[in-house]
Amino acid sequence: PAVLVLHGPNLNLLGRREPEVYGHTSLAELDALLQRRAARYGVAVECFQSNHEGALIDRLHQAPGRYLGVIFNPGGYAHTSVALRDAVAAIAGLGVPVIEVHLSNVHAREPFRHRLLTAGASRGVISGLGVTGYLLALEGLLALAGLAPG
Ligand code: DQA
Repeated sequence: PAVLVLHGPNLNLLGRREPEVYGHTSLAELDALLQRRAARYGVAVECFQSNHEGALIDRLHQAPGRYLGVIFNPGGYAHTSVALRDAVAAIAGLGVPVIEVHLSNVHAREPFRHRLLTAGASRGVISGLGVTGYLLALEGLLALAGLAPG
């Protein structure tokens, strides 16, 4: 079994980008952390980052039949993208849960970050816990798949 971790725009700069908001962990370190944690359950983690909306949509479309679930940080597209929301809803309908993660607490920030278009189609949302949020999302997907105590 495998999980897809999908990172949206600007997350390639993680660790160097506004570290007071997003932390000092790099994307490569985050991915390695998730891979190590999932390995305890015999689950593989595939990671993909893109700054392009369509590339993220393409990866979501590939998820059914491949991944037991998706951990998705849509970055700024969370606030703007009907197309990404529709892609999340499409794969949810095909049995692939998506847990949306934001490193920062978007509800404590600027008003334009309070509206999350993608969140309404997601199985769950975690915001404000930094890198820990991804580990919790992994735990959530494993529980939904019956691979960890839920
Ligand atoms: C973010 C929050 C978004 O508002 C922002 O545009 C990002 C990162 C987060 O992880 O906290 O790029 O998704």
